[in-house]
Amino acid sequence: MSEITIAIDGYSSCGKSTLAKEIAAKLNYIYVDSGAMYRAVTLHLMNKGLIKDGHFIEEQVIEEMKKITIGFHHNPSEKRSETLLNGVNVEQEIRNPRITKRVSAVSAISKVREKLVAIQQEMGKEGGVVMDGRDIGTVVFPNAEIKLFMTASNETRAQRRYDELIAKGEKISLTEVKKGLERRDYLDMNRSISPLKKAADAIEIDNTELDREQQLDVALQLISEKIKEQSSLA
Ligand code: DC
Repeated sequence: MSEITIAIDGYSSCGKSTLAKEIAAKLNYIYVDSGAMYRAVTLHLMNKGLIKDGHFIEEQVIEEMKKITIGFHHNPSEKRSETLLNGVNVEQEIRNPRITKRVSAVSAISKVREKLVAIQQEMGKEGGVVMDGRDIGTVVFPNAEIKLFMTASNETRAQRRYDELIAKGEKISLTEVKKGLERRDYLDMNRSISPLKKAADAIEIDNTELDREQQLDVALQLISEKIKEQSSLA
């Protein structure tokens, strides 16, 4: 049978991309980090000086979207997929907290979403893809065979994110990280276009008490059941 589509949505910093990458590696599927694409647009707009104190002029953003190309390439030495903005590798820069702070506002702009959703649908049109984000199961691939919705307690998510940032040498407090996460979740859930929500047919995985391996086992079990079910119907 042909390869399936796996959509992974959920709140900020609850292990979506870790899980998505591991599933993709196990199944030999393509992994697409849709959040990286919103981050790349945000970086572009900030570099152009089009976001000032969090404010932007929507017409300018729409004009700028025509000049942006976003893609991914595989870095074999790092064994990871890296984000390209107009052909330049921006994988590192888009993870910077100054981008994280502004990305929710940029991702609420309908023309930005229109363009990125079209690219995402094109990337996944043949199946064999694991994509993570906020609207993958609801908007990008509403017919995905597997939809997972990841959650974890705010404390756990903040602690994991804090540990990651400290390991990268960022100077930030746990309270700031927690506030930032909660703010981003609020904006992502309350925007008018494609807000973050669990698709009706998504399966929720709360990984507060799960480690990476346990989370992967749960997901792979669900996926193999689905693949079997699909094959028996074929
Ligand atoms: O997954 P992430 O934290 O890198 O995503 C960055 C932001 O991009 C997130 O706060 C909301 C937005 N986003 C979105 O609106 N839709 C997606 N499919 C993925 C991310």
